[in-house]
Amino acid sequence: MSAPDARLHRTEGQSAPRRRATVAILDYGSQYTQLIARRVRESRVYCEIFPHDVTADELAARGVAGVILSGGPSSVYEPGAPRIDPRILDGRIPVLGVCYGMQLMAAVLGGEVAPEGKREFGPAALEIDDPSGLFEGLGASERAWMSHGDTVRRLPPGFHGIARTERLPFAAMSDGRGRFGVQFHPEVMHTPRGAEVLRNFLYRVCGFEGDWTPAAFVEDALAELRRTIGDRHAICALSGGVDSAVAAALVARAVGDRLTCVFIDHGLLRAGEAEEVVATFGSRLRLVHVEASERFLARLAGVSDPERKRAIIGEEFIRCFEEQARRIGAVQLLVQGTIYPDVIESRSRESKTSARIKTHHNVGGLPEVMDLEVVEPLRRLFKDEVRRVGAELGIPEDILWRHPFPGPGLAVRIVGEVTRERLDTLRAADAIFLEELRAADLYRAVAQAFAVLTPVRSVGVMGDYRTYGALVALRAVTTEDFMTADWARVPYDVLARVSARIVNEVPAVNRVVYDVSSKPPATIEWE
Ligand code: XMP
Repeated sequence: MSAPDARLHRTEGQSAPRRRATVAILDYGSQYTQLIARRVRESRVYCEIFPHDVTADELAARGVAGVILSGGPSSVYEPGAPRIDPRILDGRIPVLGVCYGMQLMAAVLGGEVAPEGKREFGPAALEIDDPSGLFEGLGASERAWMSHGDTVRRLPPGFHGIARTERLPFAAMSDGRGRFGVQFHPEVMHTPRGAEVLRNFLYRVCGFEGDWTPAAFVEDALAELRRTIGDRHAICALSGGVDSAVAAALVARAVGDRLTCVFIDHGLLRAGEAEEVVATFGSRLRLVHVEASERFLARLAGVSDPERKRAIIGEEFIRCFEEQARRIGAVQLLVQGTIYPDVIESRSRESKTSARIKTHHNVGGLPEVMDLEVVEPLRRLFKDEVRRVGAELGIPEDILWRHPFPGPGLAVRIVGEVTRERLDTLRAADAIFLEELRAADLYRAVAQAFAVLTPVRSVGVMGDYRTYGALVALRAVTTEDFMTADWARVPYDVLARVSARIVNEVPAVNRVVYDVSSKPPATIEWE
């Protein structure tokens, strides 16, 4: 979700479970840092990613009982290379350095790091010399994934090598007292037993119990929310998407009627969506359903430019939301469904300049002019964890597994002007596509699927008559993170059924095409 502005105060660490021990992952810029976090969480251990310049005191204040240093693109001796507060490495808490993390540990603790001459990238046979601790349960030789230019040439005092490869005398090191380094990447799939290496570090070395479960998260989060919200009142914009739904359900469970959810139906939702949101949440939380399609469509009349559509919908949404907030009265808090990748991404956006491809209006991050404190109970969770927490809270599967849907809704899936009639056409085509994907058991296999109504009209023939109808495009993609995506290889027979049904059941449409563009160069949405 988009980051709110400076007038919204945020309580850092909301719902970070205080009682449970935490692993800190220090980020040295590796593309795999998030993957380390996911692997740790999959071992049911709570972890957070920190910038590499975090201090030992800050980690202690957060209850950190184990540290993992990520890999990174730098070379430890180059000017400006990211360092570490040396007190983190003083041996009081267990540390595992991965790739650059291992090199940094070696350099700081008195060893020596040198360039290898030629970068090593790919699988290597790891010969394990010490099968205890980190490598407990592994074979004498295991496949491990390498991606590095430098290597540890001399170990720091007190360390010994615990694994080798043909190229590396020190592919892993240990001081025998809880400090380890591995030159390979245990977090990637290409290191088949890497997850066990990480688990050994977490369970055997750090002594964690693996008790961080969805139920444990809910228990911690409820206590934390009750403490931070106290007897104040909160408001939440419910979009029907999984993040805001889970955030709202969690806060409602914590404070009951002191949360009011506002569901603004802008008339740009998919078939049956508004009804489903009301049916699901109307009975379990205090819900205000605002039917606002008239005013949104009135403002969109005659507008074809995608960015203009987004701006109008964004503004109108804020207006609607503020009106509702005023009607509800004394509200001090705004609940948002921000999740961990948003937090990490906005942090890295602060340090990078990037071209704006399209403005992502997001219904969660809006009311800039309201003086509200932001509550983000999911800001430390990955998407799959949000779904598990949602299941724990009893939210139906249909909502938890729903594909992402853009804030401006169908308006950015209608190329050209948005009218009621064109919305009805698109909704009908889209519903058929999704229904057939579900019937073929493909809905969860693709990350996002939808129909697009194009302004193209083409000639067709139906019965003995010439038609001149609309062109609908179908888009289905596979992706991990929505930053890059590939078109999904939906089987021809499924596409044939979808196409036949659309041209038969949706009168305005006489031609259907399938979008075979990847992102980049295309984007997932058409506008
Ligand atoms: P693109 O089209 O940029 O989409 O490849 C990437 C992901 O973002 C979603 N998307 C949006 N989400 N407001 C949103 O909340 C928007 O304006 C918006 N535009 C795109 C898109 O559905 C995909 O999941």
